[in-house]
Amino acid sequence: MLTFPPDRVLAQGANRICVRDPASDGHCLKYELPPQQRTRVGARQRLRRWFARRIPALGENRTELRAWRGLHARLGDALADFVAPCEGIVETPQGTALRCALVRDAQGLPARNLYAHLFESTPYTAARLCAAVDAFEAWLLHHGIPLFDLNSGNVVVIEDAGQPCGLRLVCVDVKSILDGREIVPVSRWVPWLRARKLRRRAERLRARIRSQLAAPPA
Ligand SMILES: Nc1ncnc2c1ncn2[C@@H]1O[C@H](COP(=O)(O)OP(=O)(O)OP(=O)(O)O)[C@@H](O)[C@H]1O
Ligand SMILES: [Mg+2]
Repeated sequence: MLTFPPDRVLAQGANRICVRDPASDGHCLKYELPPQQRTRVGARQRLRRWFARRIPALGENRTELRAWRGLHARLGDALADFVAPCEGIVETPQGTALRCALVRDAQGLPARNLYAHLFESTPYTAARLCAAVDAFEAWLLHHGIPLFDLNSGNVVVIEDAGQPCGLRLVCVDVKSILDGREIVPVSRWVPWLRARKLRRRAERLRARIRSQLAAPPA
């Protein structure tokens, strides 16, 4: 079992647990969960996990690091505006982890993910959050980045006076760029298919924001 004091845990996903780095306030560590702590998934994902247990390069952390490095080689440090920097694989007393820069809010606290804004509480309107999705979508389209796993747990929300809506989404999980669901990933390679899929994913996220934050009927 991989366990951490609750105050260190930022989030536990289907495959990994993300905790604060005890050595640095500005970093977090992602650990791949052992099989018994992962959530149940379909046959294809089970097969992927089976391979990843035998070939570490296929695990979530190394996949995310490779995806981030590919983007960084293309876009340089400006990438950090929209994607949290990954620093590398590190060995810790709890095991091997991916060390990333922690995205923080104006108070220096870990930025909350969009899921928490939708399902816990948010000071922002649906219109402002949707505008932040628009800007993120425009950036993905401009650079042709096949980030298709645009779910609310993969982005955090920060305030940014430089954006028209005053908010910016920062992606904290780019592994889907290399680890998609398609057997032959044509929509990664063909520009118009990629753009169409990105638009669909962004629209789905906006629809979720609108339905979740819709004002209750008067
Ligand atoms: N660099 C970061 N800065 C701030 N918070 C982060 C960072 N990385 C991860 N988190 C937090 O941890 C959560 C889970 O991160 P991540 O999506 O990388 O894990 P995961 O295991 O891939 O989840 P899943 O498998 O369910 O997609 C995020 O929603 C976010 O709240
Ligand atoms: Mg994720």
